[in-house]
Amino acid sequence: MIKYSAADDFIEKLRAQSDIVAIVSEYVPLQKKGRNYWGCCPFHQEKTPSFSVAPDKGFFYCFGCQAGGDVFRFLMKIENIGFGEAAKLLAQKLNIPVPERERSEAERQREQEREEVFQANALARDFFHACLLKSALGIYALSYLKDRGVSVDTAQELKLGFAPDDWSKLATALQKRGIRPEILVKAGLALPRPRDGVYDRFRNRIMFPIEDVRERIIGFGGRVMDDAQPKYLNSPESPVFSKKHVLFNISRAYRAIKDAGRAIVVEGYMDAIALSSQGIRNVVASLGTSFTAEQARLIRHYASEIVFAYDGDAAGQQATLRALSIVRAGGAEVRVASFPGGKDPDEVMRKYGREFVTQCLNSAVGLLDFQMEQILKNSDFADLNGKVSVVNQAVPYLAMADSAVEVDAHIAKLAERLGIDEGSIRSELRRHRGQKEISRPTAIYVRRGNDSRQVAAEEYVLRQVLESPEQFEAVAATLVSGDFQNGPRRTLAETIWRAAAQDKNLRPESLMAELDEETVQLLSRLLLKEEQGPAVPQVLDDCVRIILLARLNAEYEEYRLKADLLLRNGDSQYMQELTNAQRILTKISDLTRMQG
Ligand code: GTP
Ligand code: MN
Repeated sequence: MIKYSAADDFIEKLRAQSDIVAIVSEYVPLQKKGRNYWGCCPFHQEKTPSFSVAPDKGFFYCFGCQAGGDVFRFLMKIENIGFGEAAKLLAQKLNIPVPERERSEAERQREQEREEVFQANALARDFFHACLLKSALGIYALSYLKDRGVSVDTAQELKLGFAPDDWSKLATALQKRGIRPEILVKAGLALPRPRDGVYDRFRNRIMFPIEDVRERIIGFGGRVMDDAQPKYLNSPESPVFSKKHVLFNISRAYRAIKDAGRAIVVEGYMDAIALSSQGIRNVVASLGTSFTAEQARLIRHYASEIVFAYDGDAAGQQATLRALSIVRAGGAEVRVASFPGGKDPDEVMRKYGREFVTQCLNSAVGLLDFQMEQILKNSDFADLNGKVSVVNQAVPYLAMADSAVEVDAHIAKLAERLGIDEGSIRSELRRHRGQKEISRPTAIYVRRGNDSRQVAAEEYVLRQVLESPEQFEAVAATLVSGDFQNGPRRTLAETIWRAAAQDKNLRPESLMAELDEETVQLLSRLLLKEEQGPAVPQVLDDCVRIILLARLNAEYEEYRLKADLLLRNGDSQYMQELTNAQRILTKISDLTRMQG
């Protein structure tokens, strides 16, 4: 028997009592069509409804932008709040009292401290802002900003500030307003003096307040106005400031990012300000050179496409390459914009204007284009050695790409540029893939390509299990979750298989809690899919067999490749591998016969 905590009980109670159609209707006009309700999606712009709600299943899904989930996800997305807050809001709407959560003393203290740090930061922002605009102290800073094209309006909108050239102006002002010195230190606004008391961290700098999505001040960046070092001083890690999560300007940009379906990521404060103040609002800055998986995830919350507009110099391009692999791993679509002459977006905006910047952004190239271009740019391929080196560098990227069509096009382009035969690039690519499979036996189940039959079969099986969990046993008798292709289908399968192993509920709403955004989308789509006739057991069997066959084929390839390699090395072990391959081949032909 599964034990639920009081919190789980509360969530289940909310779910049971909420009517997803009623809740969604508060935001989106819905019309009944068949079993489901339809409307225009609130998460992207559209004129014909592709947003659907299934009252019986309690899920929504948009066939246009793939947004999906249960009633909690809906509230989280539309109100831009976290799960806890969505639950509270739903309780409010349903008039259900929220049970007081018992919190440990430590937890309570941490929460209290965070609140105080936020409060100190907000006061500091106001202090710096007043120093810039309402005090003689800020005259030079203001003219510095003006010289760099930042208007007073922009300074006001972004609440830019100035930290006076003094050891304790901020600390004194904030302590007068009731902020304790320990909190100033926790917030990173001040540092402890050796004996007692504190002194200001930021002195004689232009101050850029950094907000989270909910417009709370989490930290600051401070820039010198001359050539002093460091050029930028940022807040240290604090109870509310974690660098790897920070995206400067996200609070002002996220709506525009949602609307545009993409985010533009620049490196610096000034770049984000330059673009944003010129009306390119969907821009955030990653602040520094390394873009993190956490930042990618935050963006993916609002849009599936990320356009990198890093500096045009070599360091910026290297940073872009690194960023790309991180984003790719997160499953976002990536493009790269380049600016002429090693300039950064801020300089380009000032020199060439908004029209030109927009053009650069719109002609951003795809991931593979950028990678190939980088390799060619940094290589001398006049002689044969150079050509070989370019091919060797290019092959790993080609092998990683998703689309075979795209890879083909790039092979052709590369062959043309290098003046070599396409066939030799292809054989290098094959060799690279083969080597990888042999050196990593665990990759047996990692199959490339998107065989549409396999995709359809996997989706059918997952959907059947979700709709009628009693079918799980039959499926699990043949398949393991590793048989599903990498990506959301694999993740969903793993979650189902894991839940089953722990005797947990397999109902979609119970699985939700553990899933990432992309997998929730898949789950919702499967549930909202229009029925294609009654579920026939034969179809499920066939689908299971298709997936099993794919696994066996991959295993066969593996043994055959191993045998091949051993044979070439004159190792007599190859016979063993051939026998294994043969054994699998027999299984495959048996199964294929069954399928007719
Ligand atoms: P401007 O010179 O004001 O135009 O700045 P920028 O934004 O063009 O700076 P740059 O391209 O040199 O750096 C990009 C980003 O990296 C900055 O916005 C900062 O967030 C960060 N950065 C730059 N220099 C420093 C530094 O000295 N220390 C720290 N911590 N961060 C820096
Ligand atoms: Mn700059």
